[in-house]
Amino acid sequence: MKLVKEKLIDGDGKRRDGRTFDMLRPIKIDAGPLKNADGSAYIEWGNNKIMVGVYGPRELQQKHLQEPDRAIVQVQYTMASFSVEDRKKPGQGRRENEISKILSEALEGVIISDQYPRTAINVFIEVLEAGAGTRCAGLTAASVALADAGIPMRGLVASCAAGKIDGQVVLDLDKLEDNIGDADLPVGIIPTTGEIVLLQMDGHLSDLEFEKAFGLARDACMKIHELQREALSRKYFNEGESPKEDEPDGEVTS
Ligand code: CDP
Repeated sequence: MKLVKEKLIDGDGKRRDGRTFDMLRPIKIDAGPLKNADGSAYIEWGNNKIMVGVYGPRELQQKHLQEPDRAIVQVQYTMASFSVEDRKKPGQGRRENEISKILSEALEGVIISDQYPRTAINVFIEVLEAGAGTRCAGLTAASVALADAGIPMRGLVASCAAGKIDGQVVLDLDKLEDNIGDADLPVGIIPTTGEIVLLQMDGHLSDLEFEKAFGLARDACMKIHELQREALSRKYFNEGESPKEDEPDGEVTS
């Protein structure tokens, strides 16, 4: 039997959920929803629902892991068994370990870790419901949770993927687009400096397509950065008032 590939973009250039090529799914960010963590954030992004809790900096008990001149950043990305359609096997699989590692590396480049020698900063990313783009949503929320914990950073990290479906470059793939699309390019940047802290690619893009996809993701990160700042403002400043431009994003104090 010949499989007919489902069309993801219609004749008017609209995707299945009505978005054009350059639109994000709806995003909501809440800073500090958890009382028992040092910092926390909750994000809803399309069908993704993700809670992040931060602990630390705390002294590392395992001496062999200690760094004498800085804190180490340990991210644990976990998907709940009920987060996907087919019940996910409990425990950390290969995919979760890989995502944990790349997100640890992304955040290590952002946190000003030399203020906390021999300590660990733990970031727990709990995916409660997954609908594609969980690493980007998790990283975006993790950076808000770190700011909520008062951990100094060189800026917030905003993250978003672009990709290719039906031969066209589009922003922020949903689950079906991710499953049957041609390419996915998760990007994480510090919007205030433009530094790239996460860049992965699944599938194939030409040079031109890569540039277009990267540009779409980078522009979206600027919008996501605004949502991050608004979430922190709602908790730490009067409603509607934003942190001052020259105030480092991570050094928000209560
Ligand atoms: O979530 P993200 O796009 O960062 O990572 P992915 O490995 O490309 O996974 C894409 C999506 O596949 C996830 O967001 C889940 O919706 C889904 N998935 C799943 O259904 N079952 C799994 N065991 C892993 C992922």
